[in-house]
Amino acid sequence: KKQHQQDRFRPGYHFSPPSHWLNDPNGLVYYEGVYHLFYQHHPHGNQWGPMHWGHAVSSDLIHWEHMPIALFPDEHGAIFSGCCVVDWNNSSGLFEGSHGLVAIFTHADSCPKTGQPRQRQSLAYSDDQGRTWHKYKGNPVLAEEDLIDFRDSKAFWHPQSERWVMVLVAGDHVRFYGSKNLREWTLIGQFGKEEGSHDGVWECPDLFELPIDDSGRSKWVLIVSIGDRPDCPEGSRTQYFIGEFDGNTFINDNPADHVMWLDYGRDNYAGVTWSDIPAQDGRRVMIGWMSNWKYANQTPTGEWRGAMTLPRALSLTSRDEGIVLTQLPVREIEQLRKESKSWNMLTVTPEVPYTLKTEDDLLEIEADIDIRSAGEVLIKLQSAGEIETIIGYDPVSQWLFIDRTKSGITDFHPSFGCQHGVRLVPENGTIRLQIWLDRNAVEVYANAGLVVLTDQIFPDAPMDRMEISVKSGEAQLSSLHLHALKSIHVP
Ligand code: FRU
Repeated sequence: KKQHQQDRFRPGYHFSPPSHWLNDPNGLVYYEGVYHLFYQHHPHGNQWGPMHWGHAVSSDLIHWEHMPIALFPDEHGAIFSGCCVVDWNNSSGLFEGSHGLVAIFTHADSCPKTGQPRQRQSLAYSDDQGRTWHKYKGNPVLAEEDLIDFRDSKAFWHPQSERWVMVLVAGDHVRFYGSKNLREWTLIGQFGKEEGSHDGVWECPDLFELPIDDSGRSKWVLIVSIGDRPDCPEGSRTQYFIGEFDGNTFINDNPADHVMWLDYGRDNYAGVTWSDIPAQDGRRVMIGWMSNWKYANQTPTGEWRGAMTLPRALSLTSRDEGIVLTQLPVREIEQLRKESKSWNMLTVTPEVPYTLKTEDDLLEIEADIDIRSAGEVLIKLQSAGEIETIIGYDPVSQWLFIDRTKSGITDFHPSFGCQHGVRLVPENGTIRLQIWLDRNAVEVYANAGLVVLTDQIFPDAPMDRMEISVKSGEAQLSSLHLHALKSIHVP
């Protein structure tokens, strides 16, 4: 019975580990037709512990095959977060004239002299498409004695300066290092002591260039996650900056106190993007850890714990308020649709809500809602019992929210059962919602990915009903599509 209860939250199509603990995505790289997903993993427990790199591969970002653990702790410590790059030209000299994968990760141990935590950067490499890994003999390759929090390397080849650039966090700022060979690194820039949110320690940076709409122009995006702090109800979350990278450092386009969040849900953390997706494809694809340090160690999933968000393609768009990041699940997600139903011009009033037995707890919902004559609109995803997760929109305050206070098991942490949201301005009187429901999560994308809310939920009964209601006036659903989705979880 207990086992059954725990498996209830196994996602149908979000990535989860075969067993035990998972946190950050690591080493995201595309190489020879395969997407690699490594992840922070504790294979001997369902709570955070000595970190390893778990490993999975996919040809479409949706169907994953579990691989053996790639990196184990060693004499330099545990294996914290980091990246992988393809060393196409053997600049590292590790591949005997050919190319291969280089992982740059953080070794975490404690200093034998002071006993203080110590974090240093190291290399591992693979010449067999990531199947076997060798730690580099000269590890660690980068240490800064005076920094206690110094981790989460993310590197890329910078053609303009003909060198590798690596971005790392150093407690309250990011640092940029340059290298010709991935083995010797020099400090070239620093950013952020006075910029953005410092509600928590800075973690898991990423830096990349993206086109702005079809303007022919582009900007650089700097991603910085911030850790949990007991007095912040939001817990750990991810901010981003828009600006320029001059080859040495990042220059913020916005005022220092302007904070932009990647996700307005509670469960999207430490997200980074895939390296080496070919230019013909052109996408920048991100995946995040779908949890929050506030309660990550307590979620009621049993002997496995932790999952990833859906992989998302990122874009920049120019708005009145400035240039902002948008995100939508990668198009490969459409393969999951097994049965679809559509409606046009549905009118919902307080007397006549729209209710539906969906028969399925894995769903994709697309709704265009004209809210010009509507009061608060509520989409309730429900079970036969009392369980419901509410996605709501208040046209007066222009507020889109998720309410998970009655979403199932919530009592494992006082911060979990909550309602939270974001301002969303309608476009031509309409809001467009794209919602993915899984057994452990709901992801809500509004107005073509302009704002996103990603939340874990733990509904302990099948969520096979939906109700769309309005508190006053009437809401017009100009279109509604409902797709039942396949479960592709491989135990
Ligand atoms: C982010 C993080 C990283 C670190 C890793 C340890 O969630 O704290 O900064 O490398 O997790 O597992």
